[in-house]
Amino acid sequence: FTLPAVKNEEMRDYAPGSVDRRKLQEALAEMREQLLKEGPFKVPVIVNGEHITTDSVNTQALPFEHRTTLASFHETDASTLRKAIDLALKVKPEWEAMPFNDRAAIFLKAADLLANKYRYKLMAATMLGQGKNAWQAEIDAAAELCDFWRFNCHFAAQIYADQPVKNSATTWNRMEYRPLEGFVVAYSPFNFTAIGGNLVSAPALMGNVVLWKPSPMAMYSNYLVYEILREAGLPDGVIQFVPGNAEFIAKEAFSHPEFAGLHFTGSTAVFKHLWKQISNNIDVYKSYPRIVGETGGKNMHFLHKSADVRSAALQTIRGAFEYNGQKCSATSRVYVPDNLWDEFRNILVDETKALKMGPVDDFTNFVTSVINEHSFNKITSYLNDIKSGSDPKTKILVGGNSSSTEGYYIEPTVIVTENPHAVTMKQELFGPVVTVYVYPADKFEETLELAETTTPYALTAALFAQDREAIVTGSNALRHAAGNFYINDKSTGAVVGQQPFGGGRASGTNDKAGSGLNLLRWVSPRVIKETF
Ligand code: ALA
Repeated sequence: FTLPAVKNEEMRDYAPGSVDRRKLQEALAEMREQLLKEGPFKVPVIVNGEHITTDSVNTQALPFEHRTTLASFHETDASTLRKAIDLALKVKPEWEAMPFNDRAAIFLKAADLLANKYRYKLMAATMLGQGKNAWQAEIDAAAELCDFWRFNCHFAAQIYADQPVKNSATTWNRMEYRPLEGFVVAYSPFNFTAIGGNLVSAPALMGNVVLWKPSPMAMYSNYLVYEILREAGLPDGVIQFVPGNAEFIAKEAFSHPEFAGLHFTGSTAVFKHLWKQISNNIDVYKSYPRIVGETGGKNMHFLHKSADVRSAALQTIRGAFEYNGQKCSATSRVYVPDNLWDEFRNILVDETKALKMGPVDDFTNFVTSVINEHSFNKITSYLNDIKSGSDPKTKILVGGNSSSTEGYYIEPTVIVTENPHAVTMKQELFGPVVTVYVYPADKFEETLELAETTTPYALTAALFAQDREAIVTGSNALRHAAGNFYINDKSTGAVVGQQPFGGGRASGTNDKAGSGLNLLRWVSPRVIKETF
């Protein structure tokens, strides 16, 4: 294979006065103007390239300004979904027969279109629709999506090149990496535009056809991603864009004999629910389906008494509050030894208070709002419980206020507890809330064990220590507590090609997005022995 050399998309800094900032602001202004003039963007169901409108219409609002609707989208109905499946299965033989280089070229071209033509537009859609500030949108809708598309091609080429090593003069052994038989279904989340792009592209690159059910809260950006893939040359029917009710799509798609796999990112509860539905249909299927999911997290920062306290505190603020705590990798519980607590607390309080909160259009805002009313109500009910003294050992140290008048705003909030099993040390809140437990500095090992067993999740974790022995002890004790483990760095911010991402236990099947391990789930190899 003759792929171009692979490297991470270079991140832009959007500094005041920079061309990038001006262009991004122009893209935002243009999108807002279009909304004012023509109303919400219209998103259809797309089957074999045909834009289909159905009777069921839903909307996506700006989370930080919920009176404004960004998009109205059609939800797929039963006959459209069946048609999407039938037609996808029809185009599949041609797609899987296409040489890998030609398939890869489509995704490399999509990365180029995104980096150089649609960067600001996709970022603007992600900022307005999902409430990301400019830098968080750059990380996601520009850099990470380009990286997924480019690195997947690189890793796929490595997979295809991996062949049996032993042959003889009269035998030739080879491995043919066939796509799965049937179709794959992708359910994508609101919190990363790039994840939607990857959930569909990874199986498609390996020769599969995919039904894409995007999150209603990321509808417009996901639609633009689909359009970029089409402009790059993705043939009709390889990815069918089928917004709609999760339960309804599951019912139709998972009862089809050709259902071949689920590529999912979202909540643990929904993933388990879908898995059960798939299990109930196991006798219907031609093949055992592949089930790949990245789900919840309750990610920790764990400080040893030798930690660089300033760095750990600043990384905690970034891990907990960037994108309003809505990354699956967000830091949401922190273990601090008592010798560092005073200094750690002072930094945490001062820096958290200094974070500006508001709409994404103002680039000085670090925090915006949470994604929707459901999330707002859930998080504020936890905060209200604490305020009402439900757990006398748990208090709000800073933040805790909220308002949903304009948007779903929740102040960055630090909770302190003397109870390591406090509700907010265990439950995933998916918002700008972090809980700190202060432990006796001489109880490092016991507290590691406590942290390891406090939640069912195992997505990301970070250990802060200068002492080498403590790093080894902590790393070993937390070996199964995270699929992405950081030493002296925050729990968020995995980069494709550098830290393949995913966790175990209740956090997912750990098939590492952005790596060959994930791509291997979308192939069913045939070994061929030929004797001469
Ligand atoms: N890959 C994203 C991160 O690590 C979720 O923050």
